[in-house]
Amino acid sequence: MGTKIHPYFSFFLLLFLSPHLSLQSFAQNEDEAEEIKRSDFPDHFFFGTATSSYQIEGGYVEDGRGMSNWDVFSHIPGKIKNDDTGDVADDHYHRFLEDIELMHSMGMNAYRFSISWSRILPKGRFGKVNRRGVTFYNNIIDGLLLKGIEPFVTIHHHDFPIELDQRYGSWMSSQMQEDFVFFAKICFEEFGDRVKYWITINEINLVAIKAYLEGVYPPAHCSPPFGKCSTGNSDIEPLIVVHNMLLAHAKAVRLYRIHFHEKQGGSIGIAACGHMYEPLTDHEFDKKAADRALIFNIAWVYDPIIYGDYPKEMRELLGNQLPSFSNIEKNIIRGSLDYIGINHYTTFYTKDCLHSTCSQGSYRPIKGFFETTAYRDGVSIGDPTGEARFFVVPRGLEEIINYIKERYPNKSIFITENGYSPPQGDGNKVEDILNDTKRVNYHKNYLTSLAKAMRNGGDVRGYFVWSLMDNFEWIDGYTTRFGLLYVDLHTLERRPKLSAQWFRSFLGGNPQRLVKSSSLITNASHSLMDA
Ligand code: NOJ
Repeated sequence: MGTKIHPYFSFFLLLFLSPHLSLQSFAQNEDEAEEIKRSDFPDHFFFGTATSSYQIEGGYVEDGRGMSNWDVFSHIPGKIKNDDTGDVADDHYHRFLEDIELMHSMGMNAYRFSISWSRILPKGRFGKVNRRGVTFYNNIIDGLLLKGIEPFVTIHHHDFPIELDQRYGSWMSSQMQEDFVFFAKICFEEFGDRVKYWITINEINLVAIKAYLEGVYPPAHCSPPFGKCSTGNSDIEPLIVVHNMLLAHAKAVRLYRIHFHEKQGGSIGIAACGHMYEPLTDHEFDKKAADRALIFNIAWVYDPIIYGDYPKEMRELLGNQLPSFSNIEKNIIRGSLDYIGINHYTTFYTKDCLHSTCSQGSYRPIKGFFETTAYRDGVSIGDPTGEARFFVVPRGLEEIINYIKERYPNKSIFITENGYSPPQGDGNKVEDILNDTKRVNYHKNYLTSLAKAMRNGGDVRGYFVWSLMDNFEWIDGYTTRFGLLYVDLHTLERRPKLSAQWFRSFLGGNPQRLVKSSSLITNASHSLMDA
């Protein structure tokens, strides 16, 4: 493959040499004895950024894309801060080449992104494949491979065709399993010759709580005391939704293994929301509460996938409210993954609610009889961030990896998300947003914690920063900025923040890739990238 210097390159070089962001002066202010280095990680470790379709793409009515649950929801006044929507988002639909170039210039060797289900199947399995949607993702995948960046594809990250909700209630119905497998099959067929790392569904544990317990994500189901929605049952529905998602995942993995793995040789996993929980006090009850919190969040997802059933502690507290797997289903779900994906951002203190007074909702079995807080004796667990529940607690990454290593020995792990957004109080001035020293510190310290966990035997294969660029942060709209790249909300211009420069210097700007990419790229995309 002939390497041609892309016209964007000189532009990016200029940006990285931008005079007002001085990485050197930043480094001099640091008092850490030993800085984390690229060489603290194996050569073939993946360093990437992560995004999801609805959060960055825009182009929501273009080229045959169908309406998704998030399109409909974000257009309901009052659901999202400032009534923001993903209609345009970062306009990645038209700017993906520039975005790939920016990842490359940071030295990233991997990129995790998701496929918009309604761009590929506007009406789910009840309609036709939208070829223009397939072309869009082919171009992204080929564009990445040309730059030596490994694509990690999330098949489903929150957005799905609204048709599936209207027809049968989406994830509340077992029919959604069928639709998901149908969609996954098309992804394997169309992209599997080049995509070697698949993630079936993103954060099933988080979606179930946000959408069916709190009712703040579509389809906004909930019941008191958790919230006021027009419909829903917060005690039961999250459990049904996760059950359907787990089975959808397992059936897609089975399909991949039977029909695609031999020829395509890829691997497949799932990504769960994986925060850490520490006991609020040394009391035995709080220690048990922290264990329960990990079980009700992490083991809820990974015990069935790895061991074939829900954790016994959940069954004890939830009884028949917790759905059951038939023997056939247990056989399908047990062992249905090649690696564990963890989206980790923060650590919570955990308080027992079986023996002490808590808020009303904590007494419901669905909440596991524990409560979380960021404060112990008035002191916060870490520095605050732009997401009210998240605090900066680097040790939590090491702790969660240790937990996973012990509960699921011999499983490799990807940190599929880790990232920082600054508190609102830090201001909106562009120079301040660009000069994101707090984000640099966040990643340095979390990477240090990650390296420690790996030295202690944690089998971690990759680390993905959330996010490549500022984007649509669900119900927070564009008020929260997680990106390494600043995105001007009006012009959509991207500008590297100090953290992007830090990664560039940390990674040495030399992407390493395991698989030789040139042979995988379709001819069509050679002309695309050369254009
Ligand atoms: C996890 C989700 O996967 C992602 O969509 C979200 O933007 C980040 N957390 C930050 O909240």
